[in-house]
Amino acid sequence: MESKYTFQKYPFQKTSKKNTLLFFSSFHKYHIKKTHVFTLLLVHLLVCTLPFGVLSQTWDGIIVTESNLQALQAFKQELIDPNGFLKSWNDSGYGACSGGWEGIKCAQGQVIVIQLPWRGLGGQLSTKIGQFQALRKLSLHDNAIGGLIPKELGILPNLRGIQLYNNKFTGLIPPTLGSCTLLQNIDFSNNSLVGQIPDSFENCTMLFNVNLSLNALSDSIPVSLTNSNSLMFLSLQYNNFSGLVPDSWGGEGNGGKSKVKSLTFDHNFFSGSIPVSLSKLTDLEEISFSHNKLNGEIPSEIGKLEKLKSLDLSYNAINGSIPVDFSKLTSLTSLNLAHNSLNGQIPSFLGDELKLASLNVSYNNLSGSVPSQLSSKFDSSAFVGNLDLCGYSPSTKCPKLSLHKSRNAKEILLFVGCGLLAVSLFICCIILCCLLKKRDTRVKKTDTEGGDVGPTKGDPDEAAAVGAGDGGGKLVHFEGGMEFTADDLLCATAEILGKSTYGTVYKASLVEGKQVAVKRLRERIAKNPKEFQSEVSSLGKIRHENLLPMRAYYLGPKGEKLLVFDYMPNGSLASFLHARGPNTPVNWPTRMRITKGMTRGLLNLHTHQNIIHGNLTSNNVLLDDDLNPKIADFGLSRLMTAAANSNVISTAGALGYRAPELSKLKKANTKTDIYSLGVIMLELLTGKSPGEAEDGVDLPQWVASIVKEEWTNEVFDLELMKDVSLIGDELLNTLKLALHCVDPSPSARPEAQLVLQQLEEIRPETPTSSGDDGAGSVPSREE
Ligand SMILES: *[C@@H]1O[C@H](CO)[C@@H](O)[C@H](O)[C@H]1NC(C)=O
Ligand SMILES: *[C@@H]1O[C@H](CO)[C@@H](O)[C@H](O)[C@H]1NC(C)=O
Ligand SMILES: *[C@@H]1O[C@H](CO)[C@@H](O)[C@H](O)[C@H]1NC(C)=O
Ligand SMILES: *[C@@H]1O[C@H](CO)[C@@H](O)[C@H](O)[C@H]1NC(C)=O
Ligand SMILES: *[C@@H]1O[C@H](CO)[C@@H](O)[C@H](O)[C@H]1NC(C)=O
Ligand SMILES: *[C@@H]1O[C@H](CO)[C@@H](O)[C@H](O)[C@H]1NC(C)=O
Ligand SMILES: *[C@@H]1O[C@H](CO)[C@@H](O)[C@H](O)[C@H]1NC(C)=O
Repeated sequence: MESKYTFQKYPFQKTSKKNTLLFFSSFHKYHIKKTHVFTLLLVHLLVCTLPFGVLSQTWDGIIVTESNLQALQAFKQELIDPNGFLKSWNDSGYGACSGGWEGIKCAQGQVIVIQLPWRGLGGQLSTKIGQFQALRKLSLHDNAIGGLIPKELGILPNLRGIQLYNNKFTGLIPPTLGSCTLLQNIDFSNNSLVGQIPDSFENCTMLFNVNLSLNALSDSIPVSLTNSNSLMFLSLQYNNFSGLVPDSWGGEGNGGKSKVKSLTFDHNFFSGSIPVSLSKLTDLEEISFSHNKLNGEIPSEIGKLEKLKSLDLSYNAINGSIPVDFSKLTSLTSLNLAHNSLNGQIPSFLGDELKLASLNVSYNNLSGSVPSQLSSKFDSSAFVGNLDLCGYSPSTKCPKLSLHKSRNAKEILLFVGCGLLAVSLFICCIILCCLLKKRDTRVKKTDTEGGDVGPTKGDPDEAAAVGAGDGGGKLVHFEGGMEFTADDLLCATAEILGKSTYGTVYKASLVEGKQVAVKRLRERIAKNPKEFQSEVSSLGKIRHENLLPMRAYYLGPKGEKLLVFDYMPNGSLASFLHARGPNTPVNWPTRMRITKGMTRGLLNLHTHQNIIHGNLTSNNVLLDDDLNPKIADFGLSRLMTAAANSNVISTAGALGYRAPELSKLKKANTKTDIYSLGVIMLELLTGKSPGEAEDGVDLPQWVASIVKEEWTNEVFDLELMKDVSLIGDELLNTLKLALHCVDPSPSARPEAQLVLQQLEEIRPETPTSSGDDGAGSVPSREE
């Protein structure tokens, strides 16, 4: 009796259209995918309840009319019924209209409903179907019925619903259907229909649902259909439609207002641009145009669709930017623009103002930063494939706040750098000779040990020695480097390069314009001459491509000590990194090469030379012509007294490279060196000098605080962010490694070997570049 109640509540017969829609819209509060169900229900109500509600079931009504009986018999005959569902349709015709026949409903002896879904029926539909003049509903979906859809359906004046989906119908959609003026619902989806949508549908002024999906229909959409005032759902997905989507939507001229709620055109071959007239479909809730060949820009007028909930334009060739007017799409919950050629930025209102539950802009040409509300809400797969897009995953963070900070810092540095340059340009025409009381003359074959070790350059086992010192002075050469005499050295013009705890470094220009770096050790900090010479001789043998080689030493008659090294024209890493002009960027591969080189040098010191550096800073990493790093100042502590060494440690600390435990420990070890290495890595990553630390926060602490607040990309040098999409993971992984190295707990820090191994993993070496593993392949002649 439910049907009676329904009938009384919704008296369709009187004002059927109005009430149909009223009923419809209240029902439609459910999800759009429920369409199918409610469509069936609606048709059921319209078609089935009325007769039984209105008509009393008289005996007359139960006896089927002759023409209908014939048609039913033909109908049964042409179908194949492997499961015997139609057994009840016996020849007598008895019971056909009294509920005895499966799937048949009648009114006044006429069939009004044929409903036989999921019966496994095959065969085809009889053309005698035209005799069911009272037929309202034909539902045969989910069978295996083939053949043509009979054109005789078009002469059924009462036909309201046809559900033939999931069958094997072939051929054309009969244009005669246009004569069924009461037709409301057509679902022919998932058959093998070809040809085009007939123009005649324009005469079906009650038609609200047309589902032709999953066929092989072609051509475009008839303009007449776009003018319909009744159409709500048009499903054309998975067909062979092509050409332009007509730009005549909105029912102009027909009077009344368009009711279109859903246009599903995906997986076709539609081309051209998205029609602007779609914006007239003010009730539109869903647009699915994905997997077509649409191009051009998204019309900004789409922003007028206040009720639009889902917009899928993915897999097309749409260009231009995301229209600003999308900010007005206040109902939008799902937006898919993936695989197009959209450019410009992702506007911040997506998420902000909109209530998006689903978003995909992957594989476009979008740039700039993803608004944080979006990146926190959606998976990175929603943003990938846009080369210049950043800020949607840890490896694609964008530069933001650091922009100003970093520029200011650079300006300051530039200023400081210029000042330093002015100082160093003041060439101290110090004649080193003047530092010595007596001018030495060239004397060969003298050695403190008294041996007559001549200038045996090239001897693989013993350093060549050239003594110079009729006043007791002595010059000892080590392997490699240029030849010069004590006179050459002592009479060279020199320029101060820098000062350190151990002494002052000069650039000395020897005769013929050759240059060496000379370190003059401070007085009274070195060990006694005998110990000194023994230590310095072993230091002079150390050879590694990432360790600055000592070429000679000079011991003056009054205990003056000069150490001679290769001169590095590119200066220290500190000045290279922090005192350069604004337009001389240092790219990531260079920074990485420097990092690896330093690590190799340190590894060699730790594992092959048994040397703790103790004072590793970016000032002590020098760069050769090819920007290969060479660690300097190593092993010097061996030449010094214990008192001098503790002094160096505290100085190193002041520069921000000192491991925290050194405040108590006072003795450097491999882990304190790794800490210093980590600080230099951070310098390379951030472009900041540890000396820059603000408010007593050192570089490691500063980086750690930013990383902790998940602003990871803020730490990186702005210059590096240009290539962030290519090297994002490398930056992040190197940052992680650097932070590992500066771990406050020494035991947590990796050894140099592991640091190098991880660096190689982060950025594998190209086959042509140096493959040295730091194991001392360059002669290092160990004792
Ligand atoms: C149209 O038909 C397809 C395939 O049968 C189905 O998945 C879809 O839900 C239908 N759409 C509507 C609006 O009825
Ligand atoms: C025809 O079918 C009806 C209903 O199933 C049944 O009552 C009747 O006996 C059948 N008549 C014959 C001749 O099979
Ligand atoms: C289409 O119909 C076939 C049977 O003819 C069925 O197996 C298939 O699942 C249907 N496809 C869809 C999408 O409903
Ligand atoms: C629509 O109906 C009118 C009048 O019945 C008829 O003249 C016209 O040809 C029909 N249109 C189509 C496209 O069948
Ligand atoms: C669909 O169209 C393509 C060309 O656009 C054609 O190759 C294909 O055969 C068509 N498919 C059917 C089933 O008609
Ligand atoms: C992407 O945009 C850049 C400029 O922003 C342009 O040079 C390039 O051609 C575009 N690529 C594509 C595939 O549209
Ligand atoms: C976005 O679309 C791409 C391409 O279709 C897909 O691979 C990815 O999983 C989608 N991501 C999300 C979050 O929907």
